Amino acid sequence: MRINIVAGNWKMNTTPSEGVRLVSEIVEKAKGLSNVKLIVAPPFTHIFSVGEKIRKTEIGLSSQNCASEAKGAYTGEVSAEMLADAGVKYAIIGHSERREYYRESGEILLKKLKLALANGISPIFCIGENLNEREDARHFEVVKKQIEEIVFNIDENDFEKIIIAYEPVWAIGTGKTATAGQAQEIHAYIRSVLSEKFGKKAENTSILYGGSCKPDNAREIFSQPDVDGGLIGGASLNADDFIAIAKSF
Ligand code: PGA
Repeated sequence: MRINIVAGNWKMNTTPSEGVRLVSEIVEKAKGLSNVKLIVAPPFTHIFSVGEKIRKTEIGLSSQNCASEAKGAYTGEVSAEMLADAGVKYAIIGHSERREYYRESGEILLKKLKLALANGISPIFCIGENLNEREDARHFEVVKKQIEEIVFNIDENDFEKIIIAYEPVWAIGTGKTATAGQAQEIHAYIRSVLSEKFGKKAENTSILYGGSCKPDNAREIFSQPDVDGGLIGGASLNADDFIAIAKSF
């Protein structure tokens, strides 16, 4: 059985003290929520303080990235091993902002994915097409390639730890969102591509939708059979909105 997940990607927002306030509000408002796994992904500077606030709750702690090397002379990087030891259980890997602004290639992302998995961290692996690719009707081809190039190269035994986030780049932070029909169509396709390699295990993979997901559109999107939750950017910075989205199942 796959689980419903709502994950908040805080991106480069909130100071450490603002982050602690935000997560405290989320903890309070999430009480009684039982049919959905909540995850928060604060910036690295808040991993300990936010982690401490959710330590005794069911809320999961995620990073937004991890290094592509295990350890050593890589100034400014944070390794998967460090994150795991700091209490991180999930890592967003391959977000389109990382791919675009920091030139993270498929080769780099595969290394990150493998290091996260080797350290017991579940990757929230992001895929999705940009506007040109959608307009040229190449979105199926693009996500297939992203999956084949990266996810197909992980150990089969690790596959069940992976969460997929489908995020059409044209919907991220733009206020434009995929329709529920568009989301279902491509989520079902993603699952079918995953099943080519991983068989029935793909039925248990949580596939999240991301891109301008808000309290007023989450219910319709989450009602689709192959949409198992959301990766939420902007709306995850407001505890009421984040919890309203989580209550949309
Ligand atoms: P958004 O971001 O909800 O602000 O569109 C989603 C994401 O980038 O994960």
